[in-house]
Amino acid sequence: MAELMIEGLTKRFGNVTAVDNVNLHVADGEFVTLLGPSGCGKSTTLAAVAGLDRADGGRIQVGKTVYFDAARGTYLPPEARSCGLVFQSYALWPHMTVADNVAFPLTLRKVTTTERKRRVSEVLDLVEMEPYAARYPHELSGGQQQRVALARTLVYHPAILLLDEPLSNLDAKLRDRARAWLAELRTRLHLTTIYVTHDQIEALSLSDRIVVMNGGHIAQIGTPQEIYERPADPFVADFIGTTNFLPARVLHGAAAGGLTVLELGDGQRLEVLAERPATEGSTVTIAFRPEQMRIAQDAPPDEAGSLVSTRVTGRSYVGGHWQVGLDIAGAPLRLETPRAPPEDDLRIWLPQRGGIIFRGAADVVA
Ligand SMILES: Nc1ncnc2c1ncn2[C@@H]1O[C@H](COP(=O)(O)OP(=O)(O)OP(=O)(O)O)[C@@H](O)[C@H]1O
Ligand SMILES: [Mg+2]
Repeated sequence: MAELMIEGLTKRFGNVTAVDNVNLHVADGEFVTLLGPSGCGKSTTLAAVAGLDRADGGRIQVGKTVYFDAARGTYLPPEARSCGLVFQSYALWPHMTVADNVAFPLTLRKVTTTERKRRVSEVLDLVEMEPYAARYPHELSGGQQQRVALARTLVYHPAILLLDEPLSNLDAKLRDRARAWLAELRTRLHLTTIYVTHDQIEALSLSDRIVVMNGGHIAQIGTPQEIYERPADPFVADFIGTTNFLPARVLHGAAAGGLTVLELGDGQRLEVLAERPATEGSTVTIAFRPEQMRIAQDAPPDEAGSLVSTRVTGRSYVGGHWQVGLDIAGAPLRLETPRAPPEDDLRIWLPQRGGIIFRGAADVVA
């Protein structure tokens, strides 16, 4: 177990800067997830930590060992780094049994036969695959193969664990089960982990902290709750969960925490307690999560908010509740509600607290 420090990490491919001056400290035993759109630099970051690819700038240290230091010309080869790496394609050796696959890293490290047997059995037990020890990979389900791949990594006790979309090959049900199992395993092992996923539920439910990346940069680092409830910018708000963005003008500004009055595109007014100061006359974007909004009749009786007229553009029943598409002055919104709105003209309630004001017009696709 060890702390991981990434400082000023930069990696270029030709004229593409895949990772641009990334700073990240992962505490001993912490589980951190990299989340971001395709091509934002997640795998490149992991490859630099594992030493699969040599970065152009920065420094990587695990515990007391410097893995990479561009300024000093330090570069440890992958085999000298204590990283357990699991990829989306788990690449088990097809001609070896489960037990032999898991034992292989120990054979490479010249661990004695007795000790090897003990550790293989221990780690197969940990991933609940001991009964399958004599099987071959093609005799296992995708989820089981994934667990063997993880066992093969855990068996040599790496200082840190690097997981690059390990569950993305699994179907939805199996993936749910694998996630629950991974969550349990991580509390038991308490291993310093960097996890890469496209799946927000995975990121929100598994992580101590989430790192949202965009174009090689870190857009925000925070706990799942911080990222979801207080996104630093519209990109993060739009990337995590569903966000409704309403363009508006500040009619009465306020300092942070004060009551701000906004005017929407069609002249309707909205009162919000803004966490950030808003300047009178400026253009802003206010963001609400679908679950924060209500049909007017369902407004909570003891919570302040504004009522706004909208037009219904679509309704779909999604099991247990309805997703309703709305339009306010050309801005599309999505509302989650237990009952279908009866008519196309719909008054909705927006809370005074909880909406987030961003400066300027948000440059995001709603
Ligand atoms: N070997 C390479 N040669 C050239 N460009 C590369 C190479 N590897 C990655 N890149 C580029 O670097 C950028 C970051 O790639 P990376 O694989 O880190 O993205 P990612 O965040 O892991 O994306 P995904 O979610 O699709 O896996 C992309 O623009 C990609 O095209
Ligand atoms: Mg990737």
